[in-house]
Amino acid sequence: MGLQSTTPMLKKAKANKHGIVAFNVHSFDSIFWVLEAAAELKSPVILQTTVGTVKSLGAKNIAEVAKAAAEHYQVPTGLHLDHCTDFEVIKDAIRAGYTSVMMDASMHPFAENVARTKEVVALASSLGVNVEAELGKVGGVEDDIVVDEADAQKAIPEECRQFVEETDVPTLAPAIGTAHGIYKGKPEIDFERIAKIAEMVDVPLVLHGGSAVPEEDVRRCVALGMAKVNVSTELKNAYSEAIRDHFANEPDSLDPRAYLQKAKEAAKEMAKSKIRMVGSENTVVPAFV
Ligand code: 13P
Repeated sequence: MGLQSTTPMLKKAKANKHGIVAFNVHSFDSIFWVLEAAAELKSPVILQTTVGTVKSLGAKNIAEVAKAAAEHYQVPTGLHLDHCTDFEVIKDAIRAGYTSVMMDASMHPFAENVARTKEVVALASSLGVNVEAELGKVGGVEDDIVVDEADAQKAIPEECRQFVEETDVPTLAPAIGTAHGIYKGKPEIDFERIAKIAEMVDVPLVLHGGSAVPEEDVRRCVALGMAKVNVSTELKNAYSEAIRDHFANEPDSLDPRAYLQKAKEAAKEMAKSKIRMVGSENTVVPAFV
């Protein structure tokens, strides 16, 4: 069992009324502990990297490590390129072995978003690679994509229908009130809008900005058809805070295994809580745990 296209994974999740968490990973070791968490909970999972992480670790290296980890842990695993605006980077990722890519042209007018997405769908679908596109604009900061609160825009249901029809995109991320990063207050999720969009398009939907969204809200989104739930900030924070706490208590510590183990345990627990939240626990039978 190597890396799988996320199209069938997400279709199946949607049909079975649970979600799949897509965790942003930032290092090679995080690929292993995310998969360890998924295997322990008998859950499918998606690993995703931003373009910044691709630049720092290399697409081929990430894909090779992810493939080896997926073979070791034996749970359905997808590898997704998050928020990419550049077709050349998308082509490199597909060549390297990514099984899903996001063409984020949400900052462009509708017609241009359609045209850019279509170009990627034409290439990816012939290779069995999933494509994700965004409609509306998700607020917050994700790597070097910054959308101010004032510029965030919710997706229009009729445009979602037209977009899927014209592009044939297999997964769609409509902006529905969540944002990347940690919220100042409680996120105002537009559930009615999600329901309308889900009525008008058949493809699995993607929830961006999954960190710090109350559990019951995420569950409601999943029940309405948001099959992929993206989580980055909370995982990153759990890992980094464990390292920060370690050095606050042991400032002279020089053994990386000591603090990396604590960071791994904290992040793994966070990953498990998110997997349980979307209801994908015990949905697969891994050969080895
Ligand atoms: P958070 O950082 O809010 O979890 O968002 C992750 C995300 O949507 C990645 O695309």
